[in-house]
Amino acid sequence: MERADLSKRTIVTGASSGIGLAISEVLCQMGYQVYGFGRDFSGAEEKMARMGASFCPVTIDLLKTEDVLLKLKEIRKEGPVQLLVNNAGAAYYGPHETLKPAQISEMVRLNLEVPMILTQALLRDLKAEKGTVINISSVTAEGVNTYGCVYGATKAGLASFTKSLFEEGRKSGLKVVSIAPDMTQTRLYRNADFTVDEEVSAHLMPEDVARAVRFILEQPERMAVAQVTLRPQLHRIKRKKTADK
Ligand SMILES: NC(=O)c1ccc[n+]([C@@H]2O[C@H](COP(=O)([O-])OP(=O)(O)OC[C@H]3O[C@@H](n4cnc5c(N)ncnc54)[C@H](OP(=O)(O)O)[C@@H]3O)[C@@H](O)[C@H]2O)c1
Repeated sequence: MERADLSKRTIVTGASSGIGLAISEVLCQMGYQVYGFGRDFSGAEEKMARMGASFCPVTIDLLKTEDVLLKLKEIRKEGPVQLLVNNAGAAYYGPHETLKPAQISEMVRLNLEVPMILTQALLRDLKAEKGTVINISSVTAEGVNTYGCVYGATKAGLASFTKSLFEEGRKSGLKVVSIAPDMTQTRLYRNADFTVDEEVSAHLMPEDVARAVRFILEQPERMAVAQVTLRPQLHRIKRKKTADK
């Protein structure tokens, strides 16, 4: 692994599993110092050992705004952040009347409010550094999401925020990008009655999304990638048997 260049600093939310962990690994390979936010890193030990000192796990609940703002202040004291990856997310599915208010609130806050607050807190630095914000949206942002009305709405909101913020910041050299993955093999579907189909061409892997992050960051300064949509070759989902849920 290349040694971390401490002048390239990034925050990745939801870095304890799935897509965020894979993105963190690629960023460490690219020489970034990664501050990975999550609540429980116990399933990430193997990858964390590979990343070594380039990865700094930050155990925090992103829904506790005051704690998050304090942590950002601490990190900024050591130097400006060049890259923010808003990846943490939650998903609950089902007919809208069956969702609990707490689940609706968690999705709206985690998927939409948290990225907006983190971005606001870091934006002056990010503009001054000609930095990048990458928001992990979803293909659901573009479509109709029967039984996923709230999840899809939060991702559509995030995609809209991304497009507008790019226009706001582009004169400063800021890049704001959304990645819209389709079904990716992670823990995201643990609360759903469906999951990814096991056929290898019917789902993406977290590493595929991480490769898109590398692609975005390796472009010349004159070119801003606006959005990357990632789809598996085959369009399939797997219904869970009641016992698998
Ligand atoms: N998997 C897919 O098919 C798919 C497709 C399109 C978009 N996405 C998006 O990709 C992103 C990553 O999801 P994933 O698929 O990798 O699922 P995942 O493995 O469940 O990852 C979710 C991450 O968010 C973190 N998180 C959740 N609540 C948190 C909180 N309150 N505070 C701090 N961290 C929190 C989790 O960490 P802790 O549990 O340790 O807190 C975990 O690291 C999400 O935004 C998701 O919507 C996923």
